[in-house]
Amino acid sequence: MNNADRVVALVPAAGRGVRLGENLPKAFVPVGGTPMIKLSVDGLIASGAVDEIVVMVPPELVESAVALLPGSVRVVVGGSERTDSVRAGLAAAADATHVLVHDAARALTPPDLVRRVVAALRAGHDAVIPALPVVDTVKSVDGDGIVTGTPDRAGLRAIQTPQGFAAEPLRRAYADPALSATDDAGLVERLGIAVHTVAGDPLAFKITTPLDLILAGAVRAGERQAV
Ligand code: CTP
Ligand code: MG
Repeated sequence: MNNADRVVALVPAAGRGVRLGENLPKAFVPVGGTPMIKLSVDGLIASGAVDEIVVMVPPELVESAVALLPGSVRVVVGGSERTDSVRAGLAAAADATHVLVHDAARALTPPDLVRRVVAALRAGHDAVIPALPVVDTVKSVDGDGIVTGTPDRAGLRAIQTPQGFAAEPLRRAYADPALSATDDAGLVERLGIAVHTVAGDPLAFKITTPLDLILAGAVRAGERQAV
């Protein structure tokens, strides 16, 4: 990367939050009084490592997002699958040389983690993902739930966001209209591009279930007490 480079963060926030089960789309659900989408965007801004932010939201929440977020943040309509939302963000970020894709649902992601990902892009890696060791044993099962294998945990990692990419391979990966994936790096891997890992952070966990929301609220309450 050099001074002409432009790092654009895309924030998929157009999901419905079915597993969370609140009565509004997940990214707009508050954690400790602040909607997840605002917490995620604030973390990206606090990193000082991104030049521009594009959020992708449900069509009926464009105005709410504009009202909630700093004027410099661009708000676009997402799609019915996460892949469609990322594709909409990519289309709105034509001048990006590097792209971060960061789930709004990872609302407590520390700015340091964002900086680690961008630093690895600056060091020349074309694809960078935050990774944590896996704490549970993981098994593969067949359609009947019968165990078919137990991969060695030492060689497994749980993957978080932001995931960082040189824009060109990410655009190439998303050029296939048929693709579907919850993991952007998986698409780039299929192009044969080496994906570099940096240390993840437990606070970058994805708020998915009601228990996650309770945990995130407790973390925020603890942060406020510590100030
Ligand atoms: N997302 C998106 N567009 C979609 C689906 C998901 O932008 N069509 C976003 C979500 O808003 C979230 C991130 O992708 O920030 C990760 O998705 P997930 O945690 O699965 O969120 P939801 O899809 O909202 O939740 P659920 O699957 O439980 O409905
Ligand atoms: Mg989902």
